[in-house]
Order: sequence, then C-alpha cells, then structure tokens
Amino acid sequence: MAIGLYSAGIIGTGSYLPEKVITNKDLEQIVDTSNEWIVKRTGIRERRIAEDCQATSDLATNAALLALEDAELTAKDIDLILIATSTPDMPFPSTACIVQHNIKAENSAAFDLEAACSGFIYALNTAHQYIATGFYKNILVIGAECLSRITNWKDRRTCVLFGDGAGAAVVSRVKNGYGFLSHYLGADGSGAAALNVKAGGSRMPATLETIEQNYHTIYMDGSEVFKFAVRIMSTAAEEALRLAGLEKESIDYLIPHQANIRIIENAAKRLNLSMAKVFFNIDKYGNMSAASIPVALDEAVKSGKIKKGDNVCLVGFGAGLTWGSSILKWHK
Ligand code: ACO
Repeated sequence: MAIGLYSAGIIGTGSYLPEKVITNKDLEQIVDTSNEWIVKRTGIRERRIAEDCQATSDLATNAALLALEDAELTAKDIDLILIATSTPDMPFPSTACIVQHNIKAENSAAFDLEAACSGFIYALNTAHQYIATGFYKNILVIGAECLSRITNWKDRRTCVLFGDGAGAAVVSRVKNGYGFLSHYLGADGSGAAALNVKAGGSRMPATLETIEQNYHTIYMDGSEVFKFAVRIMSTAAEEALRLAGLEKESIDYLIPHQANIRIIENAAKRLNLSMAKVFFNIDKYGNMSAASIPVALDEAVKSGKIKKGDNVCLVGFGAGLTWGSSILKWHK
C-alpha cells in the first residue's frame, strides 16, 4: 500500500570518501589520547579527512554521480537535489545549488536541509513526500559533511570522533509494496546546549574573540548525548516499525547512524537484533554526521548485505536534538 498516490523508494546509491586517512596513532601525536582509548570507548580506528582544496560540495558531487550511475539515470532526469549537511560550502548559495551546477542537473530545483546527524533521514522523508504526491519523479538525496572544518583539533573529547564523507541516494517511484513503508521523525530543541557550534551564525557572528575561544568548532557534552542516543535509537526504530505495522523481528537489516559502536550495540540489543544484521563502518570513517547513514547504506547494498524484499531500518540521532527512522522494503 503506497503512502500517498505513489510508492517511493531508493533506486540507486553512491558514496565518496576522501583519500586522506588519519589513524588513531596520528591523533596520538596531536592530542593526549591513545589508540586503545579511542577503540575501546568508540570503536573508531581511523577517519577520512578532505584535502584543503575539497569542500562539502566536491564530496557530494562525487557521491551524486555514482548514485545516478547506479540508478541508471542521467542528471537531466533529476527534479530536485536535497542535501543534508551541517557543513555547507558557505551560508549561501546552498551546497545543493553548487552540486546542481557541478553535475549539470539543469531540470532540477535544489536546497539544503539541516538536521545534523539525522539530516539524511529528514531528507529522505522530505523526498518521499514529493514522490508520493506525484509532484516530482526523481530526487537526489545527499548527506555530505566536512566535519574536519569545524573540529577543534586540540580537544581530545571531540576530535577523535569525526570524519568527512558523502553518501547519495536516488529516490523515485517504485512498485507498490516496495520502498518506504514508514518514517518517524522527532526533535527536542531543549537539548540544543548539549551539542552545537556556537558562533558563525546570527546569534554570535565571527569575531577575533569567537575564533580565539574556538566557538566555531563542535561543542559536545558527550555523556549527555550518549544517554540520549542509547534511548532514542531503539525508540525511533520501534516507532517507525509500529507505523509500518511491523514487529522488531521483521527487521532484516539495520543501518544505524555511526556515532559510537557502543551506542550501535546497545540499539541492536534493545531491538533484539544480532550484530550480523547491523551494518557498521565506524571503525573506518568515524562519525560523518549526515553522511554516515547514506555511506553505510551504499556499502551495505554494494557488498550484497541487503537483498530484494528485505525490510531495512535506517535510524539516526543528532544535534537539535533530532532523531529519525525510516523503514523500507528493498526492491532491487
Ligand atoms: N582520549 C583519552 N581520554 C579521553 C578522550 C580521548 N580522546 N576523550 C575523553 N577522555 C577522558 C575524559 O577526559 C575523561 O577523563 P577524566 O575521567 O579524567 O575526566 C575520561 O576519558 C572519560 O570521559 P567520558 O566523556 O566519560 O568518556 P565516555 O566513555 O563517555 O566516552 C564519548 C566519550 C566517546 C564522547 C561518548 O560519550 C560518546 O560517544 N558520546 C556520544 C557522542 C555522539 O553520539 N555524538 C553524536 C552527535 S555528533 C553531531 O551531531 C555532529
């Protein structure tokens, strides 16, 4: 049964990771940390960092072209480009407009959407609405980040966690019974203080002092976010399952946001899922915020872990605070 007039699903995926690798050993040279601490507390072993000449749109463009190829579409077939990012190239124009120009998607509208690490789920939900009503036929949904640009490389509590990358998905009409079965989104702005970048917006424009104070980099109350994350990951997935009329046992594959392996393991346990049904690549890439889920999805699909007819659950959480989950019946 379609939600709306038409069923919508993901017909192609792509991802791009910068080549430059920073290992935990490299970080030991920069801050007072150790490979053992990082692996034990987070599961992260290394992360990718964009070259100085690369911006978020460059990563997004590469991922977008691969997703188009996978979907067997050309850029001209795309009606809308939607980019979830917290690290746009600049405040405006949107990174989506820059990608639209790069890939020559001349028939496409373009805008960015910001919901931090939940951004890709929010963007999928948005794309789904346009397809379900028949307003658009093909939408390029991208999660892309250069978190290295807003990381405080002197703060060991945060700099070990993040990485850069981009993942893309083409959302289009699919056969009834396949594609998105439900979405569940949520937000709690009262938690904004736990995870934020304080300066650079209209509240606190850039000054010499904001730069000196590192207010342009990520601030995180790690334990507050951790407690929120372990609760919300399973709750959001359960709500999406309920909306799809499915039980926990119906999940064939879980693609969680990659923030901390302990958060992922905890979510799997609460959902009664064996880790064999859970995708993780946090060891290779760290937390890439809005890019984590689409990169993980692309790697899961391309490695044959997701098969036609599988019920796939995507679930994430992030600054805002925000959270979201989507359930899809995979159709390819
Ligand atoms: N290396 C060595 N020691 C460290 C490091 C490090 N990199 N980081 C912190 N420590 C120390 C702390 O200083 C502390 O020392 P103390 O006891 O002497 O004060 C000790 O380790 C324990 O610190 P905790 O913060 O309690 O460590 P915890 O086990 O909670 O792990 C972590 C910290 C990994 C940040 C965890 O809290 C976490 O994953 N939180 C959630 C993060 C998250 O999900 N963020 C998602 C959103 S990101 C976004 O939206 C952009």
